Amino acid sequence: MELKNDLLLRTARGEQVERPPVWLMRQAGRILPQYRALRGRLSGFKELVETPDLAAEVTIQPVDELGVDAAIIFSDILVIPEAMGLPYEMVEKKGPRFPDVIQSKTDVARLISGEDAADALIYVYDAIELTKRELQGRVPLIGFAGAPWTIFSYMVEGQGSKTFSKAKKMLYAEPELSRELLDKITDTTIAYLQRKVAAGADLIQVFDSWAGILSPDQYRSFAIPCLQRIAAAIEAVPVTVFSKGAWFALEDLAGLDCQTIGLDWNITPKEARSRVGDDLVLQGNLDPCQLYASPEQVVKATRQMLNAFGRRHIANLGHGVYPDTPLDGVRAFVNTVQAHRYPDIG
Ligand code: CP3
Repeated sequence: MELKNDLLLRTARGEQVERPPVWLMRQAGRILPQYRALRGRLSGFKELVETPDLAAEVTIQPVDELGVDAAIIFSDILVIPEAMGLPYEMVEKKGPRFPDVIQSKTDVARLISGEDAADALIYVYDAIELTKRELQGRVPLIGFAGAPWTIFSYMVEGQGSKTFSKAKKMLYAEPELSRELLDKITDTTIAYLQRKVAAGADLIQVFDSWAGILSPDQYRSFAIPCLQRIAAAIEAVPVTVFSKGAWFALEDLAGLDCQTIGLDWNITPKEARSRVGDDLVLQGNLDPCQLYASPEQVVKATRQMLNAFGRRHIANLGHGVYPDTPLDGVRAFVNTVQAHRYPDIG
């Protein structure tokens, strides 16, 4: 079906647009009372992720409620380790936990990968097909995956961590085994994302949430090659790479075969633009905590951000929106972007 609002895709393809598109990372769920009400009736997070009609409902909620220019499919990056043979649990109020973790060569050898692993995620492709039907072309649908380094961290640590020292230890102490694991994750991610595109995803975003934990050398050596394989393999739709905390790797990221680089709030738009060159689109990067301020202050900060980026920009936060963010702040952000107009080009 023809898209009625294709601003995000035109921007990501580098076309001249009238204003930047806007959406929020982690907009599906969390902040909306409708999400919490539905979530409260279910056994848990996984039931929502694994039931396509519920996932579709939650995906569309922010489009109805906030009028954002894109939907992002409700799911989680942790479905990939699960498909590879490491199931996750979502512990209420705490976050993800893996009962089994990767420690040895035998553990890595046992993992399922590539198309075989991607076969386990039919519920995601079904959710995408259903969401596309229900959206009726209102806005594009974003598909996503975790970047291999971020998925690797969860598979080795078994949960979130302040230091990620177990995962980093594996990179330093067993680089070959680490590469083997990263390759298996990358193969699976490529198969998975290609099937998401086949199911109807209009754009792909890769989240490297723990990029900032690595040194520049480690990031270049272990993470960038995986990201490049993924970016090169997804040809049919634009790709955004969001590497949180990886300002030190911007030049490397700019060399990827992707269309958009996501930025967190630790870098100014001006510095980012000067380091990635003129071709790529930039996404971000308002501090999510800015939305706790009064709506008037949010309007001001959003305008400042839009002016600092100029063209070739997708408006977003610098990381996912926090669950207790006031909806008035979110609305002020979205509405300010949507009221913005670039000056005419003569
Ligand atoms: O962007 C969207 O709204 C789409 C849905 C989405 C979720 N997770 C739903 C979710 C996306 C894109 C993710 C990605 C994700 N998941 C990342 C990368 C993005 C980032 O924020 O850096 C990471 C690191 C995870 C792993 C994860 N999932 C954690 C650490 C947690 C617990 C804490 C938290 O963030 O809420 C989750 C759970 C999760 N994933 C929730 C949602 C809506 C909250 C679960 C609930 O309803 O109780």
